Amino acid sequence: MKPIVCVVGSLNMDFVVKVDHLPAPGETVLGRDFQMFPGGKGANQACAAGKLGSSVDVRMVGRVGYDAFADHLKASLSAAGVDVTYVHATQSQPTGIALIWVESAGQNSIVVAAGANNELAASEVEALRAAMRDARYVLFQLETPLDTVEAALKLAREEGAKTILDPAPAQPLSLDLLRLADILTPNETEACILLGRAVRHVELSDVPVLANQLRSMGPQSVVLKLGEKGCYYDDGVKQIHSPGFPVKACDTTAAGDTFNGALAIALAEGQPIETALRFANRAAAISITRIGAQASIPSRMEVDQFSG
Ligand code: RIB
Repeated sequence: MKPIVCVVGSLNMDFVVKVDHLPAPGETVLGRDFQMFPGGKGANQACAAGKLGSSVDVRMVGRVGYDAFADHLKASLSAAGVDVTYVHATQSQPTGIALIWVESAGQNSIVVAAGANNELAASEVEALRAAMRDARYVLFQLETPLDTVEAALKLAREEGAKTILDPAPAQPLSLDLLRLADILTPNETEACILLGRAVRHVELSDVPVLANQLRSMGPQSVVLKLGEKGCYYDDGVKQIHSPGFPVKACDTTAAGDTFNGALAIALAEGQPIETALRFANRAAAISITRIGAQASIPSRMEVDQFSG
């Protein structure tokens, strides 16, 4: 039997406009071309896992509406080899969407209208046991209701899976929830918000302290995502800085999601943590050279051949 990776989370249709600079409050800017891409943090992570892990079975759990976006999003995941049996449609809300502006250096601003993603209710989590059965890793993010995330994290642990929690979009989280994460994967902004600090640029020299503080909040281990500086791992025994790969950024959307999907695949395949971190850094670096969320996620061959 192949190892199983399950993703519990959001599916969104992304509406993307390229701009010269991100609009300030009250400002109207003239954008360039408009494109639609399959996205959503959960679906992006599942897509990355599916594209990168042909030797791993990947399952997606989520909610969509009864609309054309739902069909498109499920088709994108299926094309990446992801099992969408547990992506159910709800009558009460449309499929989630995200409005995204991407400026010339690749940075973005994102507004999500969660829609059907909010209908993944904690009361329905028990019904997800079958989706998590025999999973080695279950991935979570925060675009579905928090009580659902917490209930599903508990269920994943009961089923013997390791949990990977991406605390995005950034928000403070309870220690009870953080304790349910085997691997917590914040970026610098999310790390500052979890620690209740002012959001600021993080110097590499500050990272070990930050990671240690995050770990003391409950997760078994922390992978701090540092953008072009790579990532930093701390499990209390081992600390690893895995350097990033300098690339010309086109669009950073879904780089973190690509990282998480790739990390889960490498670990599910039994790769040592050092190798898994490097693999995830490579996948994320390639993704930022292209526009779009799922459209930017590389194939396994591209990641294996990428030398930075
Ligand atoms: O992480 C990127 C994703 O955030 C986008 O695809 C958008 O849908 C939002 O969920």
